[in-house]
Amino acid sequence: MICYNNTNNTITIHTKNSTYQMKIDSKGVLLHTYYGPRVRSGDFSNWILQEDRGFSPQPSEAGLDRTYSLDTQPQEYSSSGVGDFRIPSIEATSLDGSYTVDLRYVSHSIEDGKYTLDGLPSFYDNGGEWETLRVLLKDTCTNLTVELLYGVFAECDLITRAVKVSNSGTNPVSLERVMSTCVDFPSGTFHTITLGGAYGREREPVRMPLTQGIHTAQSIRGSSSHQQNPFTILCSPDTTEDSGDCWGFALVYSGNFLAQTEYTQFHETRFVMGIHPFHFSWKLKAGETFCAPEAAMVFSNSGLSTLSQRFHKAIRLNLCRGQWKDARRPILINNWEATYFAFDADKIVSIAEKASKVGVEMMVMDDGWFGERNDDFRGLGDWDVNEKKLPGGLSALAERIEALGMKFGLWVEPEMVNEDSKLYRLHPDWAFKIPGREGTRSRHQLVLDLSRKEVRDYILTNLRNTLSSAHISYVKWDMNRSLTDVFSLSLPSDQQGEVYHRYVLGVYEILEALHQEFPHILIEGCSGGGGRFDCGMLHYTPQIWCSDNTDAIERLRIQYGTSFCYPCSTMGAHVSAVPNGMTRRCVPLHTRGVVAEAGTFGYELDLNELSEEELAEVPQQIAHFKKNWELVTKGTYYRLGNPFEEAPFYGWMHVSEDQTRALASVVTGVGHANPIRGILRMKGLDPNRDYKVNGTVYGGDVLLHVGISLPILDEYRAVQFEIEAV
Ligand code: GLA
Repeated sequence: MICYNNTNNTITIHTKNSTYQMKIDSKGVLLHTYYGPRVRSGDFSNWILQEDRGFSPQPSEAGLDRTYSLDTQPQEYSSSGVGDFRIPSIEATSLDGSYTVDLRYVSHSIEDGKYTLDGLPSFYDNGGEWETLRVLLKDTCTNLTVELLYGVFAECDLITRAVKVSNSGTNPVSLERVMSTCVDFPSGTFHTITLGGAYGREREPVRMPLTQGIHTAQSIRGSSSHQQNPFTILCSPDTTEDSGDCWGFALVYSGNFLAQTEYTQFHETRFVMGIHPFHFSWKLKAGETFCAPEAAMVFSNSGLSTLSQRFHKAIRLNLCRGQWKDARRPILINNWEATYFAFDADKIVSIAEKASKVGVEMMVMDDGWFGERNDDFRGLGDWDVNEKKLPGGLSALAERIEALGMKFGLWVEPEMVNEDSKLYRLHPDWAFKIPGREGTRSRHQLVLDLSRKEVRDYILTNLRNTLSSAHISYVKWDMNRSLTDVFSLSLPSDQQGEVYHRYVLGVYEILEALHQEFPHILIEGCSGGGGRFDCGMLHYTPQIWCSDNTDAIERLRIQYGTSFCYPCSTMGAHVSAVPNGMTRRCVPLHTRGVVAEAGTFGYELDLNELSEEELAEVPQQIAHFKKNWELVTKGTYYRLGNPFEEAPFYGWMHVSEDQTRALASVVTGVGHANPIRGILRMKGLDPNRDYKVNGTVYGGDVLLHVGISLPILDEYRAVQFEIEAV
């Protein structure tokens, strides 16, 4: 619910459990007055102190009043260069070289439904659930008008924000920074939780107390990155999984991002998030509009589990799209870790044959099927089938796979080119390179300049041809390096700052065309594992390969960290061979299955190499997944413990919305002599009901508070509890 009160000039947004307020003050400045637990309406600006603060200057409207400064007022969208010394939301260079933007309220409107953003991913209305608030601000000097957009999804406590900046003057302006959200908190001490990590160790939660200064999470790699995720939580120091205030912010964007939290001189806190200003500028000519990507915000005053659950539901139902967003995904087998580049059609069919017999439903052929791609030195960019490996092309292979009763899927990496390729020899200028510089290779590949239309056309034409050439049910869209040498030959010098963003828009444009033209194809995102796991990609690819690290024990951490924002339905997770290719660890097949079952579930090995005993276990895993997928995908998710801490086990739970069914899974940690016993206390169950747990009846309250004692097990063993209300 969005309400405007014309007596006190406040605009208040109520979701089911949260309230957010802004106020137009007497100078026309849009103040931010509240974001927190749901409260009744009112004017919440009473906490704002009007005080003469040294070195906090006054705008002209304040006249001789030294108690009013933009530096001490909480801002809804902070200006730059006119007295607010905290993090600015917007900066622009005018024709005269000045940087300042200083915004004042013009008007606002409230409407049913959710706004949309051209060319950018965003949350959407599933049918009358959302409201939109638009607030127009203007800087009379630069003639920039800024439209702040708010989407309100009350049921999920989700508020989205986006920003459109228009040049209503006659001279061009260069935008240097346009943040998507800015929220000021008046008091209190905070912790930040960000998702850090590395290749193979994606989304490790990092919790830090805020001290005076600025805490940053960012990517300047051209993609959202393995190292930092475009997601930040602010919480009270005592917030836990089950209690306390927390605010989550996710950027619906897949490129360079900046998320900063500033703890100020007066112990106030400002959070901003948006496109990273690094090498960013956008030339806005008269009459043009620039749109900054969407940021999604969720508040919970009942701890981190609730915060995650609210994101999960909204992402699954109101961000992911297409027929696969909520459907059971085919159980796939991927040949990458089984063969790497060394395969031909017969090898793929032999893997599929074995897999089809145990109930696997789709064969995915990974990297190496096209051009001269027999290693990672060559071939990217040439999307013609390697007939030596695959005689008769994709259609012949797809037919052989389909004859086994399986679907067929394919790996692609459309954004890249190897210098050793026909494409590069023909169009060397299509790869990013700075004139006069040698260029930077990564995995022996260069990045195609997707800001150029002819490059996007080439990619889309090739993808169209490939996807129409055979029965293809699935595509794994990979992106295996960070962007460097970002320079486009198609743009003049004063627009080179646009290239990073235009690249991301190019990716979205191609993915949108595929989404429209091939709605039956399930697209899985990937970037060397989980290097582009973000809300932007999830609008086009309802699942993303979580990590190239398929070691089940490491995956516990990766999937745990990922779950702070992203639902299980989005996490690509497979059972792979042991010893694991990255860690050399041997984890029992059962455990590998239990961990993969908490994601999209599939296999990434050659089943021909399993023992008879192991092979017999595969149909059981598949049957278990099929029985429980709905619970895993649509149920409420609880983290039971923290896999980064030494403990007898780490667990997680999925509980049906009506609390009648649940699945609890635990995996034991590193083995110790004379070990400590683990007790599993469950979550999310109804304390007033009785539940049958693997055959024995317990009270819900007993399961929640007393718990179940786990047997002493070897390290890395999994136990699952199927729970049903009686
Ligand atoms: C990336 C992916 C892997 C695999 C390889 C193929 O690393 O994450 O799963 O597809 O590329 O080159």
